Amino acid sequence: ASAEAQSRFEAVVANEQRVEPRDWMPDAYRATLVRQIAQHAHSEIIGMQPEGNWLTRAPSLRRKAILLAKAQDEAGHGLYLYAAAETLGVDRAELTEKLIDGRQKYSSIFNYPTLTFADVGVIGWLVDGAAICNQVPLCRCSYGPYARAMVRICKEESFHQRQGYELLMTLMAGTEGQRRMVQDAVDRWWWPSLMMFGPPDGASPNSERSMAWRIKRHSNDELRQRFVDMTVPQAEILGVTLPDPALAWNEERGSWDFGEPDWSELMQVIKGQGPCNAQRIDRRRAAHEDGAWVREAASAYAAKHGRKGS
Ligand code: 3HC
Repeated sequence: ASAEAQSRFEAVVANEQRVEPRDWMPDAYRATLVRQIAQHAHSEIIGMQPEGNWLTRAPSLRRKAILLAKAQDEAGHGLYLYAAAETLGVDRAELTEKLIDGRQKYSSIFNYPTLTFADVGVIGWLVDGAAICNQVPLCRCSYGPYARAMVRICKEESFHQRQGYELLMTLMAGTEGQRRMVQDAVDRWWWPSLMMFGPPDGASPNSERSMAWRIKRHSNDELRQRFVDMTVPQAEILGVTLPDPALAWNEERGSWDFGEPDWSELMQVIKGQGPCNAQRIDRRRAAHEDGAWVREAASAYAAKHGRKGS
Protein backbone atom coordinates (compact mmCIF):
# COMPACT_ATOMS: atom_id res chain seq x y z
CA ALA A 1 0.00 0.00 0.00
CA SER A 2 1.15 3.52 -0.54
CA ALA A 3 2.82 5.36 2.32
CA GLU A 4 -0.04 7.81 2.03
CA ALA A 5 -2.67 5.08 2.65
CA GLN A 6 -0.67 3.75 5.62
CA SER A 7 -0.38 7.19 7.21
CA ARG A 8 -4.08 7.90 6.58
CA PHE A 9 -4.96 4.65 8.40
CA GLU A 10 -2.70 5.58 11.31
CA ALA A 11 -4.18 9.10 11.53
CA VAL A 12 -7.76 7.73 11.57
CA VAL A 13 -6.88 5.35 14.43
CA ALA A 14 -4.88 7.98 16.34
CA ASN A 15 -7.72 10.53 16.06
CA GLU A 16 -10.34 8.14 17.50
CA GLN A 17 -12.09 8.04 14.10
CA ARG A 18 -13.49 4.93 12.46
CA VAL A 19 -11.87 2.68 9.87
CA GLU A 20 -14.61 1.67 7.41
CA PRO A 21 -14.85 -1.41 5.13
CA ARG A 22 -13.76 0.45 1.98
CA ASP A 23 -10.73 2.06 3.66
CA TRP A 24 -7.27 0.63 3.15
CA MET A 25 -6.13 -1.29 6.24
CA PRO A 26 -3.07 -3.41 7.08
CA ASP A 27 -3.67 -7.13 6.38
CA ALA A 28 -2.85 -7.91 10.02
CA TYR A 29 -5.49 -5.40 11.22
CA ARG A 30 -8.07 -7.11 9.01
CA ALA A 31 -6.95 -10.56 10.12
CA THR A 32 -7.12 -9.85 13.86
CA LEU A 33 -10.57 -8.29 13.46
CA VAL A 34 -11.85 -11.33 11.53
CA ARG A 35 -10.38 -13.52 14.28
CA GLN A 36 -11.97 -11.58 17.14
CA ILE A 37 -15.35 -10.75 15.54
CA ALA A 38 -15.82 -14.33 14.29
CA GLN A 39 -15.03 -15.74 17.73
CA HIS A 40 -17.35 -13.20 19.30
CA ALA A 41 -20.15 -14.21 16.90
CA HIS A 42 -19.51 -17.92 17.51
CA SER A 43 -19.71 -17.24 21.28
CA GLU A 44 -23.16 -15.68 20.94
CA ILE A 45 -24.52 -18.63 18.97
CA ILE A 46 -22.93 -21.37 21.11
CA GLY A 47 -24.02 -19.38 24.19
CA MET A 48 -27.66 -20.15 23.31
CA GLN A 49 -27.13 -23.83 24.17
CA PRO A 50 -26.50 -23.68 27.94
CA GLU A 51 -29.61 -21.54 28.48
CA GLY A 52 -31.62 -23.37 25.83
CA ASN A 53 -31.26 -26.40 28.11
CA TRP A 54 -33.82 -24.73 30.44
CA LEU A 55 -36.24 -23.29 27.87
CA THR A 56 -38.71 -26.19 28.10
CA ARG A 57 -38.21 -26.56 31.86
CA ALA A 58 -38.56 -22.96 33.05
CA PRO A 59 -40.59 -22.83 36.31
CA SER A 60 -43.18 -20.35 34.98
CA LEU A 61 -44.46 -18.91 31.72
CA ARG A 62 -42.93 -15.55 32.67
CA ARG A 63 -39.46 -17.07 33.15
CA LYS A 64 -39.85 -19.03 29.91
CA ALA A 65 -40.84 -15.87 27.97
CA ILE A 66 -37.84 -13.95 29.37
CA LEU A 67 -35.43 -16.79 28.59
CA LEU A 68 -36.87 -17.16 25.08
CA ALA A 69 -36.35 -13.42 24.48
CA LYS A 70 -32.77 -13.61 25.73
CA ALA A 71 -31.87 -16.64 23.58
CA GLN A 72 -33.42 -14.86 20.58
CA ASP A 73 -31.34 -11.75 21.37
CA GLU A 74 -28.15 -13.85 21.46
CA ALA A 75 -28.97 -15.24 18.00
CA GLY A 76 -29.40 -11.65 16.82
CA HIS A 77 -26.06 -10.66 18.35
CA GLY A 78 -24.49 -13.49 16.39
CA LEU A 79 -26.14 -12.20 13.21
CA TYR A 80 -24.91 -8.59 13.71
CA LEU A 81 -21.40 -9.88 14.39
CA TYR A 82 -21.28 -12.28 11.40
CA ALA A 83 -22.51 -9.36 9.27
CA ALA A 84 -19.74 -7.15 10.73
CA ALA A 85 -17.18 -9.87 9.96
CA GLU A 86 -18.44 -10.13 6.37
CA THR A 87 -17.59 -6.46 5.79
CA LEU A 88 -13.96 -7.65 6.07
CA GLY A 89 -14.35 -10.01 3.13
CA VAL A 90 -15.10 -13.33 4.84
CA ASP A 91 -18.31 -15.35 4.45
CA ARG A 92 -20.41 -16.52 7.40
CA ALA A 93 -20.73 -20.03 5.92
CA GLU A 94 -16.93 -20.27 5.91
CA LEU A 95 -16.78 -19.01 9.51
CA THR A 96 -19.38 -21.59 10.59
CA GLU A 97 -17.34 -24.37 8.95
CA LYS A 98 -14.24 -23.17 10.83
CA LEU A 99 -16.16 -23.19 14.13
CA ILE A 100 -17.47 -26.71 13.51
CA ASP A 101 -14.02 -27.94 12.42
CA GLY A 102 -12.44 -26.46 15.56
CA ARG A 103 -10.35 -23.98 13.54
CA GLN A 104 -12.01 -21.02 15.24
CA LYS A 105 -12.85 -20.56 18.91
CA TYR A 106 -15.74 -19.37 21.03
CA SER A 107 -15.75 -18.13 24.62
CA SER A 108 -14.59 -20.67 27.21
CA ILE A 109 -17.53 -19.75 29.46
CA PHE A 110 -20.05 -21.68 27.36
CA ASN A 111 -18.31 -24.99 27.94
CA TYR A 112 -19.75 -25.38 31.44
CA PRO A 113 -23.04 -27.21 32.17
CA THR A 114 -26.23 -25.53 33.42
CA LEU A 115 -27.20 -27.90 36.24
CA THR A 116 -30.14 -26.04 37.85
CA PHE A 117 -32.45 -23.15 36.99
CA ALA A 118 -30.36 -20.91 39.29
CA ASP A 119 -27.64 -21.24 36.61
CA VAL A 120 -29.91 -19.24 34.28
CA GLY A 121 -29.91 -16.37 36.79
CA VAL A 122 -26.18 -16.62 37.50
CA ILE A 123 -25.39 -16.64 33.77
CA GLY A 124 -27.43 -13.44 33.34
CA TRP A 125 -25.83 -11.80 36.39
CA LEU A 126 -22.17 -12.90 36.01
CA VAL A 127 -21.66 -13.98 32.38
CA ASP A 128 -23.69 -11.15 30.82
CA GLY A 129 -22.28 -8.82 33.47
CA ALA A 130 -18.74 -9.78 32.40
CA ALA A 131 -19.80 -9.44 28.77
CA ILE A 132 -20.98 -5.88 29.45
CA CYS A 133 -17.58 -4.97 30.99
CA ASN A 134 -15.87 -6.44 27.94
CA GLN A 135 -18.25 -5.10 25.30
CA VAL A 136 -18.88 -1.49 26.37
CA PRO A 137 -15.28 -0.45 25.52
CA LEU A 138 -15.68 -2.24 22.15
CA CYS A 139 -18.29 0.43 21.25
CA ARG A 140 -15.19 2.67 20.85
CA CYS A 141 -13.30 0.14 18.71
CA SER A 142 -11.53 1.70 15.70
CA TYR A 143 -13.36 -0.56 13.20
CA GLY A 144 -16.73 1.06 12.39
CA PRO A 145 -19.00 -1.96 11.74
CA TYR A 146 -17.81 -3.73 14.93
CA ALA A 147 -18.18 -0.65 17.14
CA ARG A 148 -21.68 0.05 15.80
CA ALA A 149 -22.82 -3.57 16.28
CA MET A 150 -21.67 -3.28 19.90
CA VAL A 151 -23.90 -0.29 20.68
CA ARG A 152 -27.11 -2.25 20.23
CA ILE A 153 -25.67 -5.46 21.69
CA CYS A 154 -24.72 -3.63 24.91
CA LYS A 155 -28.23 -2.25 25.35
CA GLU A 156 -29.71 -5.75 25.08
CA GLU A 157 -26.96 -7.18 27.29
CA SER A 158 -27.99 -4.90 30.18
CA PHE A 159 -31.52 -6.37 29.97
CA HIS A 160 -29.93 -9.85 30.11
CA GLN A 161 -27.93 -8.95 33.19
CA ARG A 162 -30.88 -7.36 34.98
CA GLN A 163 -33.27 -10.27 34.38
CA GLY A 164 -30.64 -12.66 35.75
CA TYR A 165 -30.12 -10.60 38.90
CA GLU A 166 -33.89 -10.26 39.44
CA LEU A 167 -34.30 -14.04 39.05
CA LEU A 168 -31.65 -14.56 41.74
CA MET A 169 -33.21 -11.97 44.06
CA THR A 170 -36.47 -13.91 43.81
CA LEU A 171 -34.79 -17.22 44.57
CA MET A 172 -32.87 -15.70 47.50
CA ALA A 173 -36.20 -14.56 48.96
CA GLY A 174 -37.46 -18.15 48.66
CA THR A 175 -36.73 -21.33 50.60
CA GLU A 176 -33.44 -22.42 52.13
CA GLY A 177 -33.19 -24.97 49.29
CA GLN A 178 -33.52 -22.22 46.69
CA ARG A 179 -30.88 -20.13 48.42
CA ARG A 180 -28.54 -23.12 48.44
CA MET A 181 -29.22 -23.61 44.71
CA VAL A 182 -28.12 -20.00 44.02
CA GLN A 183 -24.96 -20.30 46.13
CA ASP A 184 -24.08 -23.58 44.37
CA ALA A 185 -24.46 -21.91 40.95
CA VAL A 186 -22.33 -18.91 42.07
CA ASP A 187 -19.64 -21.32 43.30
CA ARG A 188 -19.56 -23.02 39.91
CA TRP A 189 -19.67 -19.88 37.65
CA TRP A 190 -17.57 -17.29 39.49
CA TRP A 191 -14.06 -18.36 38.41
CA PRO A 192 -15.04 -19.28 34.80
CA SER A 193 -16.60 -15.78 34.54
CA LEU A 194 -13.27 -14.19 35.51
CA MET A 195 -11.55 -16.34 32.88
CA MET A 196 -13.85 -14.91 30.17
CA PHE A 197 -11.63 -11.81 30.11
CA GLY A 198 -8.73 -13.85 28.77
CA PRO A 199 -5.29 -14.80 30.11
CA PRO A 200 -3.35 -12.39 32.34
CA ASP A 201 -1.83 -9.43 30.52
CA GLY A 202 1.63 -10.98 30.61
CA ALA A 203 0.32 -14.00 28.69
CA SER A 204 -1.89 -12.18 26.18
CA PRO A 205 -0.13 -12.27 22.78
CA ASN A 206 -2.81 -10.21 20.94
CA SER A 207 -3.24 -7.40 23.46
CA GLU A 208 -0.35 -5.12 22.61
CA ARG A 209 -1.23 -4.84 18.91
CA SER A 210 -4.99 -4.81 19.54
CA MET A 211 -4.54 -1.90 21.93
CA ALA A 212 -2.21 -0.04 19.55
CA TRP A 213 -4.91 -0.35 16.87
CA ARG A 214 -7.59 0.72 19.38
CA ILE A 215 -9.52 -2.50 18.95
CA LYS A 216 -8.98 -3.49 22.57
CA ARG A 217 -9.36 -0.36 24.73
CA HIS A 218 -8.43 -1.86 28.11
CA SER A 219 -6.26 -4.84 28.99
CA ASN A 220 -7.67 -8.22 30.04
CA ASP A 221 -6.65 -7.65 33.68
CA GLU A 222 -8.07 -4.11 33.78
CA LEU A 223 -11.50 -5.32 32.63
CA ARG A 224 -11.37 -8.31 34.96
CA GLN A 225 -10.68 -5.96 37.88
CA ARG A 226 -13.51 -3.66 36.77
CA PHE A 227 -15.87 -6.65 36.73
CA VAL A 228 -14.82 -7.79 40.23
CA ASP A 229 -15.24 -4.25 41.63
CA MET A 230 -18.72 -4.00 40.07
CA THR A 231 -19.86 -7.46 41.18
CA VAL A 232 -18.70 -7.76 44.81
CA PRO A 233 -21.26 -5.19 46.10
CA GLN A 234 -24.00 -6.91 44.05
CA ALA A 235 -23.10 -10.26 45.68
CA GLU A 236 -23.41 -8.63 49.11
CA ILE A 237 -26.88 -7.26 48.33
CA LEU A 238 -27.89 -10.66 46.93
CA GLY A 239 -26.64 -12.37 50.09
CA VAL A 240 -24.29 -14.84 48.37
CA THR A 241 -20.63 -15.52 49.11
CA LEU A 242 -18.14 -15.34 46.23
CA PRO A 243 -15.90 -18.45 46.32
CA ASP A 244 -12.60 -16.59 46.71
CA PRO A 245 -11.06 -16.44 50.23
CA ALA A 246 -8.48 -13.90 48.96
CA LEU A 247 -11.20 -11.35 48.12
CA ALA A 248 -10.43 -8.23 50.21
CA TRP A 249 -11.01 -4.50 49.83
CA ASN A 250 -7.73 -2.68 49.15
CA GLU A 251 -8.09 0.86 50.48
CA GLU A 252 -5.18 2.47 48.75
CA ARG A 253 -5.98 0.85 45.38
CA GLY A 254 -9.68 1.62 45.81
CA SER A 255 -10.35 -1.84 44.37
CA TRP A 256 -10.92 -5.41 45.49
CA ASP A 257 -7.89 -7.72 45.72
CA PHE A 258 -8.79 -11.21 44.54
CA GLY A 259 -7.24 -14.62 44.06
CA GLU A 260 -5.53 -15.99 40.95
CA PRO A 261 -7.84 -17.83 38.50
CA ASP A 262 -6.66 -21.33 37.50
CA TRP A 263 -5.06 -20.45 34.15
CA SER A 264 -4.40 -24.10 33.37
CA GLU A 265 -8.17 -24.65 33.48
CA LEU A 266 -8.68 -21.81 30.99
CA MET A 267 -6.02 -23.30 28.68
CA GLN A 268 -7.65 -26.74 28.95
CA VAL A 269 -11.08 -25.36 28.09
CA ILE A 270 -9.71 -23.27 25.20
CA LYS A 271 -7.97 -26.40 23.88
CA GLY A 272 -11.33 -28.21 23.87
CA GLN A 273 -11.04 -30.17 27.11
CA GLY A 274 -13.79 -28.32 29.01
CA PRO A 275 -16.81 -30.15 30.50
CA CYS A 276 -19.08 -29.49 27.48
CA ASN A 277 -16.88 -28.63 24.48
CA ALA A 278 -17.66 -31.79 22.47
CA GLN A 279 -21.39 -31.57 23.20
CA ARG A 280 -21.53 -27.88 22.15
CA ILE A 281 -19.79 -28.49 18.83
CA ASP A 282 -21.78 -31.68 18.10
CA ARG A 283 -24.98 -29.72 18.71
CA ARG A 284 -23.79 -26.86 16.46
CA ARG A 285 -22.82 -29.28 13.67
CA ALA A 286 -26.20 -31.05 13.93
CA ALA A 287 -28.09 -27.74 13.80
CA HIS A 288 -26.06 -26.72 10.74
CA GLU A 289 -26.69 -30.00 8.94
CA ASP A 290 -30.37 -30.19 9.88
CA GLY A 291 -30.80 -26.61 8.67
CA ALA A 292 -29.17 -27.19 5.26
CA TRP A 293 -32.55 -27.66 3.55
CA VAL A 294 -33.69 -24.24 4.81
CA ARG A 295 -30.63 -22.54 3.34
CA GLU A 296 -31.05 -24.42 0.05
CA ALA A 297 -34.74 -23.48 -0.15
CA ALA A 298 -33.95 -19.83 0.56
CA SER A 299 -31.23 -19.79 -2.11
CA ALA A 300 -33.50 -21.52 -4.64
CA TYR A 301 -36.28 -19.05 -3.89
CA ALA A 302 -33.88 -16.10 -4.25
CA ALA A 303 -32.56 -17.51 -7.56
CA LYS A 304 -36.10 -18.06 -8.89
CA HIS A 305 -37.16 -14.56 -7.96
CA GLY A 306 -33.96 -13.03 -9.23
CA ARG A 307 -32.97 -11.69 -5.84
CA LYS A 308 -29.24 -11.28 -5.08
CA GLY A 309 -27.84 -14.44 -3.29
CA SER A 310 -29.47 -15.44 -0.02
N1 3HC B 1 -12.32 -18.16 25.63
C1 3HC B 1 -11.77 -18.65 24.51
N2 3HC B 1 -10.61 -18.19 23.98
C2 3HC B 1 -9.98 -17.20 24.64
C3 3HC B 1 -10.51 -16.63 25.83
C4 3HC B 1 -11.73 -17.17 26.32
N3 3HC B 1 -12.29 -16.71 27.44
N4 3HC B 1 -9.68 -15.66 26.24
C5 3HC B 1 -8.65 -15.62 25.35
N5 3HC B 1 -8.84 -16.54 24.40
C6 3HC B 1 -7.93 -16.85 23.29
C7 3HC B 1 -7.83 -15.68 22.33
O1 3HC B 1 -8.81 -15.80 21.31
C8 3HC B 1 -6.40 -15.88 21.80
O2 3HC B 1 -6.39 -16.93 20.86
P1 3HC B 1 -6.35 -16.61 19.28
O3 3HC B 1 -5.17 -15.70 19.06
O4 3HC B 1 -6.22 -17.95 18.61
O5 3HC B 1 -7.67 -15.94 18.97
C9 3HC B 1 -5.65 -16.42 23.01
O6 3HC B 1 -6.63 -17.00 23.86
C10 3HC B 1 -4.82 -15.38 23.75
O7 3HC B 1 -5.71 -14.40 24.28
P2 3HC B 1 -5.48 -12.84 24.00
O8 3HC B 1 -5.78 -12.08 25.24
O9 3HC B 1 -4.14 -12.62 23.35
O10 3HC B 1 -6.60 -12.62 22.87
P3 3HC B 1 -7.51 -11.32 22.62
O11 3HC B 1 -6.67 -10.07 22.57
O12 3HC B 1 -8.36 -11.64 21.45
O13 3HC B 1 -8.42 -11.20 23.96
C11 3HC B 1 -10.77 -11.47 24.38
C12 3HC B 1 -9.41 -12.18 24.24
C13 3HC B 1 -10.73 -10.52 25.56
C14 3HC B 1 -11.88 -12.56 24.58
C15 3HC B 1 -11.03 -10.68 23.09
O14 3HC B 1 -10.93 -11.54 22.00
C16 3HC B 1 -12.41 -10.01 23.04
O15 3HC B 1 -12.62 -8.99 23.67
N6 3HC B 1 -13.32 -10.60 22.23
C17 3HC B 1 -14.61 -9.96 21.98
C18 3HC B 1 -15.60 -10.23 23.08
C19 3HC B 1 -15.92 -11.70 23.24
O16 3HC B 1 -15.67 -12.51 22.39
N7 3HC B 1 -16.45 -12.02 24.39
C20 3HC B 1 -16.74 -13.42 24.69
C21 3HC B 1 -17.91 -13.51 25.63
S1 3HC B 1 -19.29 -14.02 24.73
C22 3HC B 1 -20.40 -12.82 25.00
O17 3HC B 1 -20.02 -11.76 25.38
C23 3HC B 1 -21.85 -13.13 24.73
C24 3HC B 1 -22.73 -12.61 25.83
O18 3HC B 1 -24.03 -12.73 25.38
C25 3HC B 1 -22.55 -13.40 27.09
